[in-house]
Amino acid sequence: MAFPAILTIALQVLLLLAVSCNGQASQAEWDAAYAKARTAVAQMTLAEKVNISSGEYYLSRCIGNTNPVASINFPGFCLEDSPLGVRLASNVSAFPPAINAAATFNRTLMRERGVAMGAEFRGKGVNVALGPMMNLMRAPAAGRNWEGFGADPFLSGEGAFETIIGIQSQGVQATAKHFINNEQEHFRTTSTSNVDDRTQHELYSIPFLRSVQAGVVAVMCSYNQINGTYACENDKTINGILKGEFGFQGYWGATHSTAPAVMAGLDASSTIIFWQLFFGTALVSAVQNGSVPESRIDDMATRVLAAWYLLGQDSGYPPVNFDSHNNNAADDQRVDVQGDHKVLIREIGKASTVLLKNVGGALPLRKLTSIGIIGNGSGPNSRGLNGCPDSQCDDGVLAMGWGSGTASFPYLITPLDAITARAAEDGTTVSSTLSDTDLDAAATVATGKDVALVFITADSGESSTVEGNAGDRNDLQAWHSGDALVQQVAKFNKNTIVVVNTVGPVVVEAWIDHPNVTALVWSGLPGQEAGNSVTDILFGAYNPSGRLPYTIGKSITDYSAQVIYTSSAAILPIPYSEGLFVDYKHFDAAGITPRFEFGFGLSFTTFGYSKLEIQGTPHGGGVPPTGPGSSLSPFLHDPIVTVKFTVKNTGSVAGHEIPQLYVALPASTASPPRMLKGFDSVFVEPGQSTQVTMQLSKFDFSFWNVVTQSWQVPDGKIGIAVGASSRDIRLNGSV
Ligand SMILES: *[C@@H]1O[C@H](CO)[C@@H](O)[C@H](O)[C@H]1NC(C)=O
Ligand SMILES: *[C@@H]1O[C@H](CO)[C@@H](O)[C@H](O)[C@H]1NC(C)=O
Ligand SMILES: *[C@@H]1O[C@H](CO)[C@@H](O)[C@H](O)[C@H]1NC(C)=O
Ligand SMILES: *[C@@H]1O[C@H](CO)[C@@H](O)[C@H](O)[C@H]1NC(C)=O
Ligand SMILES: *[C@@H]1O[C@H](CO)[C@@H](O)[C@H](O)[C@H]1NC(C)=O
Ligand SMILES: *[C@@H]1O[C@H](CO)[C@@H](O)[C@H](O)[C@H]1NC(C)=O
Ligand SMILES: *[C@@H]1O[C@H](CO)[C@@H](O)[C@H](O)[C@H]1NC(C)=O
Repeated sequence: MAFPAILTIALQVLLLLAVSCNGQASQAEWDAAYAKARTAVAQMTLAEKVNISSGEYYLSRCIGNTNPVASINFPGFCLEDSPLGVRLASNVSAFPPAINAAATFNRTLMRERGVAMGAEFRGKGVNVALGPMMNLMRAPAAGRNWEGFGADPFLSGEGAFETIIGIQSQGVQATAKHFINNEQEHFRTTSTSNVDDRTQHELYSIPFLRSVQAGVVAVMCSYNQINGTYACENDKTINGILKGEFGFQGYWGATHSTAPAVMAGLDASSTIIFWQLFFGTALVSAVQNGSVPESRIDDMATRVLAAWYLLGQDSGYPPVNFDSHNNNAADDQRVDVQGDHKVLIREIGKASTVLLKNVGGALPLRKLTSIGIIGNGSGPNSRGLNGCPDSQCDDGVLAMGWGSGTASFPYLITPLDAITARAAEDGTTVSSTLSDTDLDAAATVATGKDVALVFITADSGESSTVEGNAGDRNDLQAWHSGDALVQQVAKFNKNTIVVVNTVGPVVVEAWIDHPNVTALVWSGLPGQEAGNSVTDILFGAYNPSGRLPYTIGKSITDYSAQVIYTSSAAILPIPYSEGLFVDYKHFDAAGITPRFEFGFGLSFTTFGYSKLEIQGTPHGGGVPPTGPGSSLSPFLHDPIVTVKFTVKNTGSVAGHEIPQLYVALPASTASPPRMLKGFDSVFVEPGQSTQVTMQLSKFDFSFWNVVTQSWQVPDGKIGIAVGASSRDIRLNGSV
């Protein structure tokens, strides 16, 4: 299945861009890396320098491969998907994707996930990991939403930041992608995302700003156009925003002269050619005929090599030891890089599970006589582990979406196996049916059991079509007639607990208020330890602390933006006319009551909030940054307001609370009513209290002034709301 894999390559033209010091790598380290790079470049011929930034897709062992330069012992880069682990390799871990990392609202777990993934990429000899992915969940049905960190730019930015620091701590280059405005799969190469300047700054570019601040060394552009110009040649987004305003001191190559013609006819296979065509010998000729100055080639090579030296890849870095075409090939050593990462994967799996309904103490499960387990999504893939290339099917427990954002499962713990094993400890009998459509079997298994656990799913992915969904989902309903299955089970069991494995929001209106549906457990996409993670929640081994990184509406039409599925235009315009009002910001502004709001999630205990203290002011002083280096400015970084409050565990079980801080700018700014600007994950014993401190910079109180082209703190009173979700506000203050 190598050829379909080529077609689903996420890799667009890769921009290898070096960044300045931000605290993650010191300026002295950067200077040393640049000095080495300049020395190396000075010895190289033009063809060698061009080779440094030239390569090919998939024609060598990795998904992308740059050319070696023997004279300086540069082995070339191995570039490999994906944002959740090493793709197309064996003996690797299948981590929970970013959407579940986001649902933990826990920076430590986000960072540790990055560290562990980085270790696996390094162990395979991958120089450049093609992640994290940080496009926002603008349209709830968009296919690749699960590869990113959800609907909110602040949460996504924190996820990107922690992941990058984690990956690069292992000496692996991280890649921030896809720059920018790639928020649906349909027509992704033949659409233009038309985004206004303020929305671009305040929403879509924020995770990339945070990536620059984390010291990311690579950025990948997206397939789509922005305002009619392809992302890979968009002067305003690359030179203006990324390099200019964010001070991303990288290069932009010579794309303006050669790229447009190639890009105009872009499709998946020409993309593969594109890299060679645009760089390689064509670039050598472009220099020779004077259309590209050699100084620019020097700059490109210098910055690519600087990233290599900066991360220490020039010394002791493992050579590529796998073959993404064929893990059974002689040149694939099947090096086992998993370490003990399964422990972390299970930890993230449970910490990202969101408890959405729990009536009458249905959960955690007590010692029971009998359990009925119902649904395809509780069992194994009937086609076998990794039975569907790039996970292109919804068969068995759903632990990741499909496409290039995947990795092979080393194993996959099913809920059926994990629950059965746990139930055996209590002497509880388990019966099951794995059919979603045999409603008689569902009734039989549900009837007379102490509890009926029903598993439903909704899947999506990159470009290719699964069960009639072409990357993007066709709707927000559960797959395989999941609603009918839940209704059937609830008809026969008054203690029906629904578990949902999904890429994003699913409309649950058909059964959420059914009196026999006693609990709803949102398991998301938990990775290889799926069954263990959900079992830890169901049986109370872990007190749920996951929070929704997106809103679950009562109808798809409640959301402000939708995937556009049909087009007869050569280039489909996608107007981002909802502007800043995406996800909860739209629900809040338009007065629409969601079923479950952004940031929501229950616990087995309860928490009280008190003693809000706010010190400092964002007003006055401080010059908003413009121009190169601004991402490092005190305006964006220095804490100027300190918010403190107390969280008390008022229940009887220890657990984590996820306090959230939302800022409300004055009405004059026409901003959303509430915007997330802080969160934490704090563990509190029953009866105990803990003080939580959150620090805010001027940036956290700013809007993008399109006239002055700078960040600005508005005049007037700015609200600060602290609470347990975007709607469960417990404490209010202002500055
Ligand atoms: C550039 O890379 C290609 C592919 O590896 C190789 O064939 C060629 O010899 C290289 N050129 C130089 C000057 O190193
Ligand atoms: C490595 O993967 C191969 C399949 O590609 C499998 O047969 C082998 O058992 C794995 N080894 C380890 C240590 O996981
Ligand atoms: C796209 O067009 C809008 C509306 O004119 C403008 O505000 C924005 O800055 C443009 N963005 C880019 C990247 O050209
Ligand atoms: C220079 O060479 C490049 C690459 O072969 C080509 O695309 C371009 O048209 C040439 N320009 C001139 C002025 O000959
Ligand atoms: C689970 O669903 C998949 C996809 O519809 C199907 O191929 C498979 O047969 C189902 N498994 C069972 C046990 O029904
Ligand atoms: C709830 O389940 C019980 C069986 O335990 C059944 O008798 C009852 O009709 C169900 N309620 C509804 C509303 O379906
Ligand atoms: C994050 O999760 C870990 C593991 O559950 C926990 O120990 C820690 O308290 C949580 N919060 C933070 C801020 O790390």
